[in-house]
Amino acid sequence: MDEQSVPAGFGDVDRSGASADLVAYLRFVNHLSQVRGVKERSRRALGLRSGDRVLDAGTGLGLDAGLIGLEVGPTGLVLGVDASRDMIRAACAAKDAGLGQVGFALGDAVALPCPDGAFDAVHAERLLQVHREPARVVAELARVLRPGGRLVSVEPDWGTMAIDPGAPDVVRRLVRYCAGAFPDGWTGRTLGRRLRAAGLVDIQVEPEVVVLTDLSLALKVMNLGPFIDEAAASGAISGEERQVLLADLADADREGDFFFAMTTFRAIGGRPEAPPSAGMGGPTGKGVARSDRGSPLAPDQLVLDLLDHLSRIVALGAAIEREPVEIDGCRLSASELHLVDSASRYAGMGLSGHAARLGVTRGAVTQMVRRLEEKGCLVRVSDPGDRRGARLALTGTGRRAAAWHVALHARIEDEVRGVLVAMEDDERERLLAFFSRFETMLARSIAERDEMK
Ligand SMILES: C[S@@+](CC[C@H](N)C(=O)[O-])C[C@H]1O[C@@H](n2cnc3c(N)ncnc32)[C@H](O)[C@@H]1O
Repeated sequence: MDEQSVPAGFGDVDRSGASADLVAYLRFVNHLSQVRGVKERSRRALGLRSGDRVLDAGTGLGLDAGLIGLEVGPTGLVLGVDASRDMIRAACAAKDAGLGQVGFALGDAVALPCPDGAFDAVHAERLLQVHREPARVVAELARVLRPGGRLVSVEPDWGTMAIDPGAPDVVRRLVRYCAGAFPDGWTGRTLGRRLRAAGLVDIQVEPEVVVLTDLSLALKVMNLGPFIDEAAASGAISGEERQVLLADLADADREGDFFFAMTTFRAIGGRPEAPPSAGMGGPTGKGVARSDRGSPLAPDQLVLDLLDHLSRIVALGAAIEREPVEIDGCRLSASELHLVDSASRYAGMGLSGHAARLGVTRGAVTQMVRRLEEKGCLVRVSDPGDRRGARLALTGTGRRAAAWHVALHARIEDEVRGVLVAMEDDERERLLAFFSRFETMLARSIAERDEMK
């Protein structure tokens, strides 16, 4: 990363326009022995056991998730969640194929796609500093931790940055600029109280001091180069102070006298054990439904809430499939989009084949094809002698519409998969049985309605 500031990028990787740089930056940093050492001590602090279920929030390239996966073994489960699709893609690509216990899902750390108490341990490194609402993140991480489980949160504190040489006043203003460039650049020192505020207990806070004596490494790893430039551009230090500082640092580096240090803090906290009578999930409290304030919900209220949710989910699912979308300025109805999708997946298929796949008449497909040709999404092509008749070929707009549709479904599936992966086997089986009954019930209702017509 030379041009773009790291803090600005990691807050919203996908929209930063610098995803590839941020991925490359993490890959580089992850290989440094000092970073590996911090990560190893964090894993130890998690107190992992074989078979544990662990969440790694803000997983980035999934390095911690993979190493945690080795510790919990094939009977364990590790879910790496990240708000960036590009990071999740990179994490999936980097994952060791043999680590079936490790999975990745797109998700926001303030609204994790996981039930209360789903994990035995939760790990989050360098996530809070890039988040505007660190207190909400910690509360959410504590929510998904089971009673008795352990949270390990690791964050740098940019206010502890020490640089030598440099005029003390200039360095002080630079440090203040760097810490202020992050949404929560002083977060390291706040970790203990943040975990306490989220209801965690037995909190310990440990320092990890990173020392660098190689200027080029500090410029890259600590983003010091862009920070010094940005501080000068913003007026925090003057242009002349910037030049003098860079020259002093370069001179010192040549003499082997450059020094940089910063403290990262690791806070470890546990979720209090649930009282034995707390619910139907036994001593761990797993499976206990809770209100937002943490008290168990009354069974009747829970049933009402579930029915309410179910109606909303059915309505939302129908809306997703019903609403028209606009791609490249071209408005497509849901049925047109499905035909475009079908044409993209089954390039050699004739019109009758598409009609059969989509459950509509051939006449309806012919009409849709005409409209889609007018909208510039596809063209009909026919090879002389091919008895299947015309086939459909997508234009650039058609291909983009199909890719949008595939991505929409992939995103929903990713998130649902994240929730399912975090569940216990018996929870999944109960859900499967429920869905089967729900499906049968809906199919029966449709049949009864058709009979009444
Ligand atoms: C500095 S990287 C750290 C990655 C990883 N934890 C590590 O130590 O290598 C911060 C990560 O947090 C992710 N992130 C930022 N905001 C997030 C949010 N609201 N929810 C989940 N992840 C988020 C970013 O996409 C990025 O991958």
